[in-house]
Amino acid sequence: MCGIVAYIGPRQAYPILIKGLHRLEYRGYDSAGVAVLNSDLKLYKCKGKVAALEEAVKDKDLSGNIGIAHTRWATHGEPNDVNAHPHFSYSRNLAIIHNGIIENYAPLKNELINRGFRFESETDTEVLIHLIEDIEINEKVSLAEAVQIALNQVVGAYAIVIIDKNDPDTLIAARKGSPLVVGIGENEFFVASDATPIVEYTREVVYLNDEEIAILHRNKEIKIKTITNIEKTPYIQTLEINLSALEKEGFDHFMLKEIYEQPRSIRDSMRGRLKAREGIVLLGGIIDYQQKLVNAKRIIIIACGTSWHAGLVGEYLFEELARIPVEVEYASEFRYRNPVIYEDDVVIAISQSGETADTLAAIELAKSKGATIIGVCNVVGSSIARATHAGSYTHAGPEIGVASTKAFTAQVTLLTLMALMLADSKGTISKSRFNQLLHELDDIPGKVEETLKVNDKIIEIATVFKDVRNALYLGRGYNFPVAMEGALKLKEISYIHAEGYPAAEMKHGPIALIDEEMPVVVVATNKGTYEKVVSNIQEVKARKGKIIAIVTEGDETVKALADHIIEVPETEEMLVPLIATIPLQLLSYHIAVMRGCNVDQPRNLAKSVTVE
Ligand code: F6R
Repeated sequence: MCGIVAYIGPRQAYPILIKGLHRLEYRGYDSAGVAVLNSDLKLYKCKGKVAALEEAVKDKDLSGNIGIAHTRWATHGEPNDVNAHPHFSYSRNLAIIHNGIIENYAPLKNELINRGFRFESETDTEVLIHLIEDIEINEKVSLAEAVQIALNQVVGAYAIVIIDKNDPDTLIAARKGSPLVVGIGENEFFVASDATPIVEYTREVVYLNDEEIAILHRNKEIKIKTITNIEKTPYIQTLEINLSALEKEGFDHFMLKEIYEQPRSIRDSMRGRLKAREGIVLLGGIIDYQQKLVNAKRIIIIACGTSWHAGLVGEYLFEELARIPVEVEYASEFRYRNPVIYEDDVVIAISQSGETADTLAAIELAKSKGATIIGVCNVVGSSIARATHAGSYTHAGPEIGVASTKAFTAQVTLLTLMALMLADSKGTISKSRFNQLLHELDDIPGKVEETLKVNDKIIEIATVFKDVRNALYLGRGYNFPVAMEGALKLKEISYIHAEGYPAAEMKHGPIALIDEEMPVVVVATNKGTYEKVVSNIQEVKARKGKIIAIVTEGDETVKALADHIIEVPETEEMLVPLIATIPLQLLSYHIAVMRGCNVDQPRNLAKSVTVE
């Protein structure tokens, strides 16, 4: 949610900044801006994508070796040129970029207006820069001290970078609640919302913690202080991102590339953890908390969106395999409803980005009540990964497409491993069944590879349904979350209204929607409640709905009923989500492409939702 990039060093800043913005564009794409400083400060910003900014500045002189840039996802103020970042204080010559929300911006703004400040934009960010300048001038302190004092007055979340026209040798960055990482090169620093704009220049990074300010002087060591003026020793980490993971590598879209990466990303999420031949599941990241999990009377899973759907699959897995009661909560609801949390509860927080504000707040709440928090995150070093007591990374690799695909299957893989590990430790599963499931899980990447061959069939089906206005997705048991996830994928990238429902619930309402226009996607693989799902299909047929069914290879019963079938390889019921999700991802992808939608950057969405 908003992407920040900044540079100071010997190189020309603009090419680094613009490339960085392209890498971060998945975080927000309603406006973009850049400010570069040499003898003068040159600032350009406009509504639209990074490409629009590039076009707008193509004839401008943007030379200079210090600068900041921003790609925006609007919170306060509509997306337009004026509200785009950077924001500038004309009286003091400061420019700022900001990701987050200043919640108490209204009283601060009123006070500043009373003190004679005039505002150009409707943003909370402009309040912050004027507040800093006001403090600096009136309290006669340095810029870094003014930033410290100002950040003590604001409520909310921020990742900011500031440049001062009068000091071309310093960048000041700070964070609370929104991510910020500093890359350390040779006599140069990079700052960004995540490591993707940095990785091609340096692998040495420092992730700032909440309420820390980094003072980055040209040719000096990085200096970190808290907003309460405590000096911190920078903890330098080495990035392990593969640069090719940030490119489309011949695919038309990141989403398609990421769908096709799933045999690898599922395998990577199991690597070193699943030893099928030896009958071992080992999750090193949570080993110290394994006993807490074994003793847990209850597991609470908190997440948002697609990660919440993975959590629903987790509920079925933990209850079936490890016999631990599970509640799956939307983090945004959990955090505000005074939930009952016991000290022997284990909370599992699932998040691809590791930055989702609601999930982070829900973690803090559960922590304050004494619960143990385990993270399942994809982004290494992310806020959620650091806020949890322990966790396991999903190893899906960077997910750039805004619609989550490979992160979902990696999350489900991890939850499956966790549930199996617990079941084994608790003795709630026989050894032979445990080994059988390990072998089947080990075969899943190959089966996903096989499943991807349905692509051509799906293109045919997409051609038939691309113009529909509504769609219903049905599934039962483990396939109910799959149906929900399929519906979410369709609505978010193709803007077709879609609902995911437990198939049996259809009779209690949604059946009224069914007519000859309504496509109904049914996940009807051959295990569990298969017979019941066949009855549900008949109920849809009786009302002339159009059935698109995901079935197990060789299924004849549903084939006779459905208008279109998509066959997937057979597997254990509890592992079906890892396979049945794939055709649904492809279906929404192709429909969205056929409708001319921007698949990787759907309207109004952003990849990491760092505001509530
Ligand atoms: C949907 C999607 C979102 C995210 C949700 C949570 O495709 O990507 O629903 O799943 O915003 O994000 P994370 O997992 O980063 O916490």
